[in-house]
Amino acid sequence: MLVTGGSAGIGRSIAARLAASGATVVTCARDEPRLRTAARRLPGTVDPVACDLTDHRQRRELIDHVIERHGRLDALVNNAGTGRVGLLTDLDADSVREVVALNVIAVADLTRLALPHLVGRRGDVVMIASVAGWVPIPPLSLYSATKAAVDGLVHALRRESSPGLRIHSVNPGPVRTEWLLRAAGLRPSDDEGRRGHTFGSRPERVADEVYRCLTGYRHRTVTVPRWLGPARLAGLPPMSNVLDLVLAPVAPLVARWARHYQETLVGRARGDGRIDGDGLTDRMTRRPS
Ligand SMILES: NC(=O)c1ccc[n+]([C@@H]2O[C@H](COP(=O)([O-])OP(=O)(O)OC[C@H]3O[C@@H](n4cnc5c(N)ncnc54)[C@H](OP(=O)(O)O)[C@@H]3O)[C@@H](O)[C@H]2O)c1
Repeated sequence: MLVTGGSAGIGRSIAARLAASGATVVTCARDEPRLRTAARRLPGTVDPVACDLTDHRQRRELIDHVIERHGRLDALVNNAGTGRVGLLTDLDADSVREVVALNVIAVADLTRLALPHLVGRRGDVVMIASVAGWVPIPPLSLYSATKAAVDGLVHALRRESSPGLRIHSVNPGPVRTEWLLRAAGLRPSDDEGRRGHTFGSRPERVADEVYRCLTGYRHRTVTVPRWLGPARLAGLPPMSNVLDLVLAPVAPLVARWARHYQETLVGRARGDGRIDGDGLTDRMTRRPS
């Protein structure tokens, strides 16, 4: 099984859950030392592969590696994803490109490369999407749009793929990870990630849902926690019309609060003052190009 973004957060929990159940799990991330350390600490067989999923060549080599080293691919879990905190006009062109490259292009292309190995036999594709894809909330507007694209891909693939193939969509609300540090363009270490995690569900709960997808019999669309399920209705009129009216006037205020929260987390993660990556303040004040 291939789980993308396995060095931290939800991906690490999914890799742990699947490896503990006896599966051979290939994981990937860009930070190789951190990925290898994470893999060593997980139970069972975990094969860490350094890979930047925004690079087409590396995506192809990743799938080739899985087939050459392990002989087959039973499931692809498209977990790696990122976002930016800000109204669309707050973001620079690089941020827009990075988010779309990972959340949409890499997901679609990796799935395209994986499908020939999954069709003709029982196989699974799991998309880690988001409730934000159904209910876009500023200041995660661009992020929400990319997750809506993933949701569209899920439905399209269900309609075009063979009966043996199942396409699942796991949609978390907020999850306790270091997501907001990466959303600031940072590359946190384990310790920094622990200090700078967000509020929300435990990542293990998402991993449990992925496990249920892979051991069930049909396509599944689930939320984490389950009670967020009705959020899908908020994406449809008249609820979506009400949200348009209510959110537009407060969006700048919400964006300011969210940035403040993000800066607080970055400060907490810094602890000893060191964190890799661009300075958050520089990034957040950069004007769009
Ligand atoms: N946390 C939440 O509240 C939440 C809610 C709903 C949905 N989600 C979704 O759940 C998924 C996982 O989120 P998370 O919170 O666990 O994120 P996270 O803590 O930031 O972890 C992201 C993982 O992806 C890897 N990654 C990032 N960019 C990559 C790239 N270009 N190539 C390969 N690997 C890359 C990271 O490692 P490297 O940096 O070393 O590459 C890391 O292992 C994402 O799709 C996210 O959108 C999260």
